[in-house]
Amino acid sequence: MLGKFGEKMKILGLSGEYRTTSKCGMLVNLALDIAKDLGAETIFWDLDVDPLPIVGEEGCWENENVKRFQELATECDAFLVSSPEYHGTMSGAMKNTFDWLYSKHVSGKVFGLMSTLGGAQNSNTLNHMRIMLRWIHGWPVPEQLAIGKVKEAFDDNGQLIDPEIVERLEKLVNSVVETSKKLS
Ligand SMILES: Cc1cc2nc3c(=O)[nH]c(=O)nc-3n(C[C@H](O)[C@H](O)[C@H](O)COP(=O)(O)O)c2cc1C
Repeated sequence: MLGKFGEKMKILGLSGEYRTTSKCGMLVNLALDIAKDLGAETIFWDLDVDPLPIVGEEGCWENENVKRFQELATECDAFLVSSPEYHGTMSGAMKNTFDWLYSKHVSGKVFGLMSTLGGAQNSNTLNHMRIMLRWIHGWPVPEQLAIGKVKEAFDDNGQLIDPEIVERLEKLVNSVVETSKKLS
C-alpha cells in the first residue's frame, strides 16, 4: 500500500497518556495493529520514552525529541490519535503534542480520532480535537470512537471486550487508510 511519498503508507500513533500500558496507549496500539494488517507501516510515539517539552519552556525550541517528532510527522501519511478525557476535554499531554505540529507537518493528512473516559461516553474530547485540527489543516475522518467506563473496556490480555467497539475501531482505521489513499 503506497502513501503520499510513493513509499509504503506510514501511520503515526499518538496518545494523550504516557506509556503503551495506559488505556489510550493500548487503544492506539490496537488501532495501529489493524493499520499494519491493512499494509501500512506503523510507528507509536510514546511520551514516556520520548517526552516532548511543554511548548515555551526553557530550551524547548532546541529539543532533539521535538526535532525528531516533527521530522517523523512530516514523513507520515496519516495519524491515529487517542486522548483521555480530562475535565471535559483532551489531556494537557495531548494538546501539547498537537502544539508541536504545524500545518507544514500535517496539512492535508488524515487523522483518526479516539478518546477514553472514566465516566459516561461522550464526544467532547473528539469534538475539541476535531476543531483544533482545523488550525493545522488536518483532515479528521467522520468515523470516531469514544470509550466510556474505560476501566471495564479491556480484558487481561489488553483486548477490547465489546465486539461493537472492535467493529467501530476497525471501521475507523479502515476509513483513515482509504481516505489517505484517496488524498495521496
Ligand atoms: C485530571 C483528570 C481529569 C479527568 N476528567 C474526566 C472527565 O472529565 N470525564 C471522564 O469521564 N473521565 C475523566 N477522567 C478519567 C479519565 O478519562 C481516564 O482516567 C482516562 O480515560 C484513562 O483511563 P486510565 O486512567 O485507566 O488509563 C479524568 C482523569 C484525570 C486524571
